[in-house]
Amino acid sequence: MTFRTQILTLYPDMFPGPLGTSLAGRALEEGKWSLDTINPRDFATDRHRSVDDTPAGGGAGMVLRADVMASAVDHALAQQPDAPVLAMTPRGKPLKQGRVRELAAGPGVTIMCGRFEGFDERIFDARPIEEVSIGDYVLSGGEMGALVLLDACIRLLPGVMGAACSGDDESFETGLLEYPHYTRPQKWEGRIIPEVLRSGDHAKIDAWRQQRAAEDTRLRRPDLWERHRDVPDQSPSGAQ
Ligand code: ADE
Repeated sequence: MTFRTQILTLYPDMFPGPLGTSLAGRALEEGKWSLDTINPRDFATDRHRSVDDTPAGGGAGMVLRADVMASAVDHALAQQPDAPVLAMTPRGKPLKQGRVRELAAGPGVTIMCGRFEGFDERIFDARPIEEVSIGDYVLSGGEMGALVLLDACIRLLPGVMGAACSGDDESFETGLLEYPHYTRPQKWEGRIIPEVLRSGDHAKIDAWRQQRAAEDTRLRRPDLWERHRDVPDQSPSGAQ
């Protein structure tokens, strides 16, 4: 089944962008996902094809018009009524791996990309839209955020990643960061690969990896560590 994506953007040339190469690019060619861009400008009603206007109450910048955006969203919904409509906004719900998994398991996504000061607030009342943020910083538009979200979804689609790298012990899947990796040469600039990884004892290697994942999470992401400790036994093996 094809994961169908529709992107509402004033800059359709930004797509597929980096998603046209590597893993995602091959998957696109193979029809594992599809991409349609919808330009809100095509739904403008005046002769200047305006999509934005000055903010009510004054102030800097421009605001994307609710009527024009709604027409574009309605067009997207008509194409794909069962796909969730997301809007990339800095005030949206922070994107997490759990939501990425849910989205990747569905039929596809429709993503609205903002520009300028954002959308007329009434659009969020009038249409079923889920606001999503990719982090606590402000981008110049939602397009980069949409690319990030799509990349995270596409790599999870069936047959996109090789079996080798689709493990459940990846960062965030277990609630922990992933353990560190090493490869040849065995000794590099005086640094050697931890002995246990060359032992061939898989039980010992697993134990070492779990311990390092826990330790690294505690030190690097105390927020994740606290949450993980509140919900123990969530890794595939049930260990912490
Ligand atoms: N648009 C602008 N900033 C954003 C962010 N941090 N996440 C998602 N969309 C955005």
